[in-house]
Amino acid sequence: MKLKGVRGAPDLLPHESARWQRVEAATRSLLQRYGYAEIRTPAFERTELFVRGIGEGTDIVEKEMYTFTDQGEVSLTLRPEGTAPVVRAYLEHQMAAQSPLVKVYYLGPMFRRERPQSGRFRQFHQIGVEAIGSDQPAVDAEVIDLLWALMVEGFGIPDLQLRLNSIGDAACRPTIRDRLSRYMADRSSELCRDCQGRLTRNPLRIMDCKQEGCQRLVAEAPKPLESLCGACAAHFAEVRGLLDLLKIPYIIDERLVRGLEYYTKTAFEMINPRLGAQNALAGGGRYDGLIESMGGPSTPAMGFAVGLERVIASLPPALEEGVLHGVYVATLGQEAQRTGMGLLQELRRRGVRGLMDLEARSLKGQMRQANKERVRYCLIVGDEELRRGQATLRDMVKAEQTAVALDRIIECLMGLEGV
Ligand code: HAM
Repeated sequence: MKLKGVRGAPDLLPHESARWQRVEAATRSLLQRYGYAEIRTPAFERTELFVRGIGEGTDIVEKEMYTFTDQGEVSLTLRPEGTAPVVRAYLEHQMAAQSPLVKVYYLGPMFRRERPQSGRFRQFHQIGVEAIGSDQPAVDAEVIDLLWALMVEGFGIPDLQLRLNSIGDAACRPTIRDRLSRYMADRSSELCRDCQGRLTRNPLRIMDCKQEGCQRLVAEAPKPLESLCGACAAHFAEVRGLLDLLKIPYIIDERLVRGLEYYTKTAFEMINPRLGAQNALAGGGRYDGLIESMGGPSTPAMGFAVGLERVIASLPPALEEGVLHGVYVATLGQEAQRTGMGLLQELRRRGVRGLMDLEARSLKGQMRQANKERVRYCLIVGDEELRRGQATLRDMVKAEQTAVALDRIIECLMGLEGV
């Protein structure tokens, strides 16, 4: 029997990896500009961390975690998200002592046992950003500005929608929940099966149910924004004002609630309307109560995570993908091959992308390979030419050939555009 990979856990194949690397490089460069440093936490944690952090009433904790018992003792879980692990590390390493506002990012695989479909995987990758230690609306604005810059400037994704809401804090959330529960309880027979369950466990989640009947009810239901306390309303007004100032376009979406329980105040999602059902490219918000609920001191925080698979699926064909670069050394004859190898080593040591045939192809086959590899130049070395101390340099863009003296070849190539 042939062994197969696990459903929902795709391989990243060599022809796809350049795009991923470009996205990762753009991420690192931009995050460094905003003053974020990388943190790497393990792929698994104690199960309790996610149960307490994400919340027992969430889909993730109820049915999507990959949990196993280690050595028959400790229950461990593959991380379904990165915020709870970062908070764990923040507390464990007393990072607050280093700086009152800790700004970190991470990039790596997450695991959720969801039903695989287009844009939804069981192993997927996130770029996450967490700013821990300040309750200032300026942090919300800076974090959202960063997300916008990542998507637009860093990745070049067109047609984005930033959806924004406030879902209150410890002071007003009970009122928000109560008003919604009461409204929905009176109409519970019209709710879908899942939402009937949510009514007691997590009524806010009814807000983003996709079922038509539930949506009809939600349209008329009391919204979180209507019941915000004074402090939350003022915070939200200030965040909006700052986003206006920074010229970040957003849509207020009163139905937006998040799938994790730790959120307070600002909540947001970045949508690509062209992606179909799984169209959220990123999601995040404030989580002012999470650190305290994990046993730390009361500490406000804010962050987001971007789904990399969905970002990659949204990318326009990159300009560089059409650009030819590097050198292919084509050789004819044994002596020429030895000379070619030496030249190639020298070019690579100087930072040039250099390739040659290692499969004894004919010259025609080598030229075909050079085209396939999208090199800008082809250096053709034959035993005959070698005796004359020459080689032929072909510019693949201009389709021009020139004879070059072998002892000047490196110098000559290094001065050319597109090498
Ligand atoms: P989340 O909304 O659960 O938030 O995930 C963030 C993003 O990860 C989603 O918008 C989506 O692009 C991607 N994503 C989630 N699940 C899948 C999946 N099964 N397949 C493919 N992509 C997926 C969080 O994880 C929070 N920790 C974000 C955060 C950080 N909030 C504050 N700080």
